[in-house]
Amino acid sequence: MALRCVAALSLLAVAAGRFQGFRRGNVLHDPPQGAESEELWFTQRLDHFNGADSRVWKQRYFTNDAFYQPGGPVFLMIGGEGPANPAWMKEGTWLTYAKEVGALCFLLEHRFYGKSHPTTDLSTSSLRFLSSRQALADLAHFRTVMADSLGLSNRKWVAFGGSYPGSLAAWFRLKFPHLVHAAVATSAPLLATVNFPEYLEVVWRSLASESADCPVLVKQASDALAERLKDPKTFENITKDFKLCSPLQIQSESDSAYFLETLAGNFMDVVQYNEDNRGFEGVQGTNVTIKVLCGVMGNTSMGDPYSRYVAVARLMMDTFSMKCLDSSFNNYVRDMTNTSWDGPAAEGGRQWVYQTCSEFGFYQSTDSPNQPFTGFPLGYQVKQCARFYNISAEEVAEAVAQTNEYYGGYNIRSSRIVFPNGSVDPWHALGITQDITAELPAVFIKGTAHCANMYPARSQDLPQLSEARDHLLLLLQQWLKR
Ligand SMILES: *[C@@H]1O[C@H](CO)[C@@H](O)[C@H](O)[C@H]1NC(C)=O
Ligand SMILES: *[C@@H]1O[C@H](CO)[C@@H](O)[C@H](O)[C@H]1NC(C)=O
Ligand SMILES: *[C@@H]1O[C@H](CO)[C@@H](O)[C@H](O)[C@H]1NC(C)=O
Ligand SMILES: *[C@@H]1O[C@H](CO)[C@@H](O)[C@H](O)[C@H]1NC(C)=O
Ligand SMILES: *[C@@H]1O[C@H](CO)[C@@H](O)[C@H](O)[C@H]1NC(C)=O
Ligand SMILES: *[C@@H]1O[C@H](CO)[C@@H](O)[C@H](O)[C@H]1NC(C)=O
Repeated sequence: MALRCVAALSLLAVAAGRFQGFRRGNVLHDPPQGAESEELWFTQRLDHFNGADSRVWKQRYFTNDAFYQPGGPVFLMIGGEGPANPAWMKEGTWLTYAKEVGALCFLLEHRFYGKSHPTTDLSTSSLRFLSSRQALADLAHFRTVMADSLGLSNRKWVAFGGSYPGSLAAWFRLKFPHLVHAAVATSAPLLATVNFPEYLEVVWRSLASESADCPVLVKQASDALAERLKDPKTFENITKDFKLCSPLQIQSESDSAYFLETLAGNFMDVVQYNEDNRGFEGVQGTNVTIKVLCGVMGNTSMGDPYSRYVAVARLMMDTFSMKCLDSSFNNYVRDMTNTSWDGPAAEGGRQWVYQTCSEFGFYQSTDSPNQPFTGFPLGYQVKQCARFYNISAEEVAEAVAQTNEYYGGYNIRSSRIVFPNGSVDPWHALGITQDITAELPAVFIKGTAHCANMYPARSQDLPQLSEARDHLLLLLQQWLKR
């Protein structure tokens, strides 16, 4: 399900079972040293769609006025499905744009993530107040109140976001055109879909672009592993091979699906963020790239493909300083059903999976033949909606259809929204990859991954990535003149 890229963006990479932040102990979003930025709090309504409900809560935000020039525009970075990371108030391409155009910058954390807690717990009845629609209404209210209190009403506001918040940026402009002048919707999936097998198809192609046999070897390895899971005699060896925290037990299809999905996750995460400059966000393991994984998979002196798959898993565990791998589906269910704000999935895993069940789907299933993995079909993922939130498969399908009805999917009709799109990023499969109109342009960046254009520039960036960043600035400058 993970989408994340910025500021708590993107869990999307985490399909239902793989909320990285929580599986790997917060590696994604610990702000780096020296990145502390003052936390500010905004009084927000709990339910924007019921005028009779006057309950309020405090939403966290950050600001940076270092580049602001009187009369300049206002940039609003939209938080996503994890804690808002104040590192984005110090670095990131949007700040270089802010400097160019003299913008005042805000980052608003998404309700229910990070420290923005609208309710006392994460029970299913509390989560009723978690939706993209409520989040957009939060943004609208924040925009309106801030503009009034700071005298910024006649300034041009520009929304930024990457991944799910990229979709929010586009939809904010779509639904509140009187409040937002333009939007940069990076790596934004605009079409909700229950089944998203295309994600793993892009993973195949992205691995193949490193070496043609890489995804083939991954497929052989994951098939071999799935085969072994059918024979309990192999479990002892598998437990040792993958350094499992407790002896492997496979009692249901969910047990094996969860284990296979966890291991596939090593590849999915690396592909999604390949060579992105995420180090400044405090992210570890950014030197593990497609090249590194395909190097291991192609190394004939490391035994058969299964053994190389084991080596990849161990490499990832070393990278994230994990002593053992928890492959237990029961533990996962226990964590995901804990409704406390102190619970193990409260950083965002429980909330994001709820949004997939109640709005977006996005299940990165193995249902396509043209992808490298085995064993985690759509049915396994959708079942979790019932298990965690009592949402049935029919309800998921209806909710996803409603989402597309409400936002328009690919048929979005608006203006001044740009859609940057990285070819390596599996999420581009649900994004806008061709200009819709001159006012709704796409920017395609060959060879880059999820949200690449948002990260700080560096000397080794691909020339097309630097060009895309420059192009986005030009567009913004043009749009701000209107
Ligand atoms: C377990 O691994 C050992 C050592 O590699 C091997 O000899 C043995 O056949 C394996 N057992 C099974 C059941 O695969
Ligand atoms: C990545 O960098 C860390 C820290 O410098 C190092 O220990 C590790 O071996 C590197 N991993 C790879 C795959 O290069
Ligand atoms: C392949 O694996 C062997 C054994 O682990 C290792 O010594 C060698 O450096 C690897 N080769 C490459 C090209 O990484
Ligand atoms: C939820 O998680 C918290 C923190 O880890 C723990 O103290 C609590 O016992 C858990 N609740 C349940 C019902 O497991
Ligand atoms: C689950 O949902 C069904 C149908 O909406 C409802 O009848 C039932 O009471 C719910 N169960 C729980 C435990 O909330
Ligand atoms: C976006 O990416 C896709 C897939 O790589 C590519 O086919 C498409 O041409 C790109 N879109 C644009 C507008 O360049």
